[in-house]
Amino acid sequence: MKTFGLAILGLLASVADATLQIVPGATWTATNTGQHIQAHGGGMLKVGEKWYWVGEDKTNGTAFTNVNCYSSTNLVEWQFEGALLSRTASGDTGPSRVIERPKVIYNKKTNKYVLWMHIDSSNYGEAKIGVATGDTVCGKYTYLRSERPLGFESRDSGTFVDDDGKAYLLTEDRQHGTRIDSLSDDYLTVQKNVYVWKEKYEAPAIAKKNGVYFMFASQLSGWDPNDNYYSTATSLSGPWSGWKKFADSGSKTYSSQTTFIVPVGDQFMYMGDRWVSSNLMRSTYIWLPLKLDGTTATMKNSINWVPDASSGSMTAGPSENSYEGESATLSGGAKSVSCSGCSGSKAAGYVGGSTSGAVLFSNAQSSATTRTTLRIKHMNGDSSQRFADVTVNGKTQKVAFLPNGGSDPGSSVVHVDLKQGSNEVRIVTSGTWGPDVDRVLVPQS
Ligand SMILES: *[C@@H]1O[C@H](CO)[C@@H](O)[C@H](O)[C@H]1NC(C)=O
Repeated sequence: MKTFGLAILGLLASVADATLQIVPGATWTATNTGQHIQAHGGGMLKVGEKWYWVGEDKTNGTAFTNVNCYSSTNLVEWQFEGALLSRTASGDTGPSRVIERPKVIYNKKTNKYVLWMHIDSSNYGEAKIGVATGDTVCGKYTYLRSERPLGFESRDSGTFVDDDGKAYLLTEDRQHGTRIDSLSDDYLTVQKNVYVWKEKYEAPAIAKKNGVYFMFASQLSGWDPNDNYYSTATSLSGPWSGWKKFADSGSKTYSSQTTFIVPVGDQFMYMGDRWVSSNLMRSTYIWLPLKLDGTTATMKNSINWVPDASSGSMTAGPSENSYEGESATLSGGAKSVSCSGCSGSKAAGYVGGSTSGAVLFSNAQSSATTRTTLRIKHMNGDSSQRFADVTVNGKTQKVAFLPNGGSDPGSSVVHVDLKQGSNEVRIVTSGTWGPDVDRVLVPQS
């Protein structure tokens, strides 16, 4: 009876988790900082039951400040754990330096985490690779050195660990072509070249399925996106196939650039960056299900989708009820404002301020009692984040709202416990200004 009860509980827990959504391109607020996640150009690894996402902190622009680490159990709700490396007074990690595309791999023999990254001067003249090690995945790392691998220029970089534990550095040599170099057994030294593509692509990432290696990379167009490509082989030393597109042609990889491919269960998730070069901290993350089948890779765009962090199943997002900000109960100084890009050409404006303008949706309907994701469509014309306290059924979270840019509202996601029937959603800011609220999208089931 007891076992039976636990089994039911386990089942309920997985059902309750099942509707948390990944919303590509939205503001993703870290659960414990109230700020948009800063882990650009990143990679991911699983340690035990937890996922760790390591990437660049772009809070203050291009110059290196931190290589950040976040953790999650479900790939949707991310907690800031700390920085693996932070700016020092001088040297490779000093002021006005460039550190990009940090990737962590775990070495079973030495029991160390090894971080490889692009190291450069502010004018990108050095073109080097750097390496650091850590004893714990999200702890402080010791920076070892930088170099040009095997004497060649190295810009965008990536890593790949094969099934046999052998690790490889993927490196962009803009003079001769993108290459794969093998690493020593301790992963700390670049050993020898394995393959060179004549194409000079960047943002390299490798995935392997059923003995087929898939190399993903982007063309060179600076911070602007382009149609990214992939090449396949049954051996890392080749022969590699010609390059093909995997996302819809002309979509510029849904306005993103590859950074990493994560194996989740027996499936794969694409991680890309949608860079905003004028204000890098507001770059967002484009994560989508990536289908690898034989020697073919395909990826479709999605507004929202639901990952299962253990099985790897990736399913379409739920249908949603939409509630307009201007039709909600507005209090303090909050009032309806015109907004050409918003649904109904209106939004709830003057949220926050000295009167703590607030937007209350008192009857947001759902047919399920579940932990899930709300999308708040919003406007923020500033160049920095705005914030609001979002209270759902009495539980409050600080949520960030990135500048939306242009006339289309941006999305910010908030992960909440909904109940069947009527739910209360309140959005308020005190003192400063919050976002204008176009509408809130609430999962139906
Ligand atoms: C960004 O710059 C501000 C102002 O100099 C500083 O207070 C803050 O700590 C910096 N943030 C990061 C993450 O480096």
